Amino acid sequence: MTDFRDHPDPIRFNVPAIEGNELAYLEESLRGGHTSAGGPFSKRAAAILQEEAGSEEVLLTTSCTAALELSALLLDLQPGDTVVVPSFTFSTSALAFAARGARLVFCDIERSTLGLDPGHLGELLDDSVRAVVVVHYGGVACDLDGIQAVLADRPEVVLIEDNAHGLFGRWRGRPLGSFGGFASLSFHETKNVTCGEGGALLVNDPAMVDRARVLYDKGTNRRAFFLGQVDKYSWIDTGSSFGLSDTLAAQLTAQLECREKIQAKRRHVYESYLAALAPIVEELAITLPVVPEGCDPAYHLFHVLMPDRSTRDRVMDQMRSEGINPTFHYVPLHSSVGGRRFAARETDCPVTTDVSDRLLRMPYFNDLTEAQVERVTESFVRTTKARG
Ligand SMILES: Cc1ncc(COP(=O)(O)O)c(C=O)c1O
Repeated sequence: MTDFRDHPDPIRFNVPAIEGNELAYLEESLRGGHTSAGGPFSKRAAAILQEEAGSEEVLLTTSCTAALELSALLLDLQPGDTVVVPSFTFSTSALAFAARGARLVFCDIERSTLGLDPGHLGELLDDSVRAVVVVHYGGVACDLDGIQAVLADRPEVVLIEDNAHGLFGRWRGRPLGSFGGFASLSFHETKNVTCGEGGALLVNDPAMVDRARVLYDKGTNRRAFFLGQVDKYSWIDTGSSFGLSDTLAAQLTAQLECREKIQAKRRHVYESYLAALAPIVEELAITLPVVPEGCDPAYHLFHVLMPDRSTRDRVMDQMRSEGINPTFHYVPLHSSVGGRRFAARETDCPVTTDVSDRLLRMPYFNDLTEAQVERVTESFVRTTKARG
């Protein structure tokens, strides 16, 4: 296979950007004497996120995976408990719960949004289900109305939004990440707002806030101590070390302060791809992302569904030989080795399998230029038309 980096002017899939005060804040953090979790930049970053998502509490974590693990701990999973997760997602959307003893029930996705299918969810619910995880793929809301309707008579089932893609996205005007009891965020290098590796748990259920703080803080009531609520702090519950270094929070703060600029740039890239491809979808036999009425996307990525897997693979290979690096995405979890090991039972997720085979993600980052989008789309259109 050709390495796209051999090209004299390669177009990478992702290039993280410096958007504002990152370097100044990193220096301030390193000189400021508080580089561990919970310092001044962590407070600033959490305050911005809290204002954006309207959550009761925002706990900055070392990754989205860590945030999901914290949510799993908060569920106090017991033997026999199950958690419903989409098959079309990242491994840790499921692993976080399996690692805490839950058996997994894999649910299929909808062809439109690529989010959890409420119809399939309804078939999978039984008394063992403790939580349902949803993903807003690419920052487009899954069918929250449909999912909430299916869960309406199951108030004991906790909805968890794995909002790794959806920060700043909205559904009927309400922020993604504000619908579940918990929501996780990712600040990994590939995300809209990044500090290399990082994440957050948004706690929306007020009844869970105090315990979430304890589990976050290595099982101690340290937070209550610093708030003057107890006169000494000690180990009181389960937990782990989840906190993000304040130095990484410094980079994150600078990025968050530039959120409008970042979102405008990413929206522009999205619309440039759309403008180039929308007029020729039938000719190419491709499907473009679907954004339902009422949804403001987060512009996290731009994907195309190709006619079949062999065309997808051929086009990706050809684009790489021209110095452009598109990528595929999630490999179905329900048929993976790990998924089979932790599944409560076998489930059928044909849409996930089909979408996973055909999905191609275009290079997508804040500073992708018009000229680069043109080069990507020209290569994509030409190689797709060539039909192997
Ligand atoms: C839906 C989803 N959840 C979770 C993660 C894991 O995020 P992190 O690398 O921050 O742990 C990813 C990774 O991209 C993801 O796509």
